Amino acid sequence: MTVDLHDFVATVEDYPEPGVSFRDISPLMGDGVAYKQAVDAIADFAKNLNVDLIAGPESRGFIVGSPLAYAMNIGFVPARKGGKLPREAVSASYTLEYGGVNELEIHKDAIKPGQRVLIVDDLLATGGTINATREIIEKLGGIVAGVAFIIELENLQGREKIMEAGEVPFLALMEY
Ligand code: PRP
Ligand code: ADE
Repeated sequence: MTVDLHDFVATVEDYPEPGVSFRDISPLMGDGVAYKQAVDAIADFAKNLNVDLIAGPESRGFIVGSPLAYAMNIGFVPARKGGKLPREAVSASYTLEYGGVNELEIHKDAIKPGQRVLIVDDLLATGGTINATREIIEKLGGIVAGVAFIIELENLQGREKIMEAGEVPFLALMEY
């Protein structure tokens, strides 16, 4: 059975601030068929990219990346919000569609030079989160094998911002 993933996105206007249409994937995660379909579609995209590791930014990137890594029999690297990792880490800062400046960090030994990393997240907005994750991976000597999202917000031009940092294979399961 195939479902229309759009039926599992709840749109909330003016959240968390006026002017933002918040695309909530909680219904998708809460439905076994839709969640598996989304993760399987990303696994299918990844199968020819020679991926060694999945990376995902805190926190919704964990929800996409962990089952994907499990399905692909490879490891998952969390990019955590600043100040949460206990050991030596590499960081990058970025600005959000809402909510100001943020910092992401990855443990220094999480990625070895030359490893190919697929970055995943629930949603691409301005691209700041993904480009910060990418910056850290590349500082560690990793290679970004591709980027994949459940949702892309087209009008914020995050895809263009990602490609400005270097062309990479791209997947978005839905566009709004
Ligand atoms: C959201 C979303 C993406 C990011 C996209 O995360 O899950 O990671 O914003 O925005 P951008 O493309 O403009 O960077 P958020 O920082 O709100 O954190 P959360 O996952 O903990 O809710
Ligand atoms: N993260 C950044 N912008 C968002 C939006 N419009 N909906 C859901 N998550 C987001």
